[in-house]
Amino acid sequence: MKLLALSSAARRALLNSRNGNRHSSALARPFAAEEARLLSAGGVKGGFFYWKRTMASPAEAKMPEKEKEKEKEETEKSVVESSYWGISRPRVVREDGTEWPWNCFMPWETYRPNLSIDLTKHHVPRNFQDKVAFRTVKLLRIPTDMFFKRRYGCRAMMLETVAAVPGMVGGMLLHLKSLRKFQHSGGWIKALLEEAENERMHLMTMVELVKPKWYERLLVLAVQGVFFNAFFVLYVLSPKVAHRIVGYLEEEAIHSYTEYLKDLDSGAIENVPAPAIAIDYWRLPKDAKLKDVITVIRADEAHHRDVNHFASDIHFQGKELRDAPAPLGYH
Ligand SMILES: [Fe+2]
Ligand SMILES: [Fe+2]
Repeated sequence: MKLLALSSAARRALLNSRNGNRHSSALARPFAAEEARLLSAGGVKGGFFYWKRTMASPAEAKMPEKEKEKEKEETEKSVVESSYWGISRPRVVREDGTEWPWNCFMPWETYRPNLSIDLTKHHVPRNFQDKVAFRTVKLLRIPTDMFFKRRYGCRAMMLETVAAVPGMVGGMLLHLKSLRKFQHSGGWIKALLEEAENERMHLMTMVELVKPKWYERLLVLAVQGVFFNAFFVLYVLSPKVAHRIVGYLEEEAIHSYTEYLKDLDSGAIENVPAPAIAIDYWRLPKDAKLKDVITVIRADEAHHRDVNHFASDIHFQGKELRDAPAPLGYH
């Protein structure tokens, strides 16, 4: 009986995937619904239409039939393997029918960065807490400068391992607060977790360009252990100072990426082709270069700067984050 059920489940999954049309599968409905939402909303920052247009490259469109068949077979195989638990990812494809290669993010999570954001904005420290936050960040910059000097690739990779922590800590604490107080968060949990995910994607991109050495991995372990706990305690004690510190850290990140771009312009750092993950995540042209990637990452950092200074300002006004609209999807 058990065997029969198993084989019939496997057959069902196989048939679903063989249809080749994700809209025909029950499992695909959430994805189809998401696409429909994006279509009706006109998309987020360029939206689904943009993705459809840009994700298809001429080279992939000309993919030989044999390779396409092989790719399809591999997808079917993986679906069958996981079907026992009823979990399988529907076929996600680009417009030209080629498989979506990433499991870590989906096409509707990609976006076109807003490069017109003002990079020069700065929050002038107004009170004692602001000054403490500002000085703390300036102090943290000294050992960073001494350790990395102008090795901006390595510097960015290492700092992104830290940059992805505050959003996760803040999101987690707001989540717990929402549970404790039986109240909604006004979207801020999601907004902060989105920031953490965005920072993690910066890291996933940088690691394609710079391979961490064993002692750098060790340093990340140590720094994460200290920073996570320190930021956790700080956020519990004073979310307004915690967000202000992150705001200033983001200002420093903008500065570092600007220096990185200067070295790319001068030729001190080679302007290599952009990693494939970056091209898909930021919807960059297929021939994008490292300079394009650093430019969009810098724009992301400017958005994080604004979100965190905004969050701190809300607290300074004696309000809670949930009293103000959460900047969802704001990269
Ligand atoms: Fe970042
Ligand atoms: Fe950032």
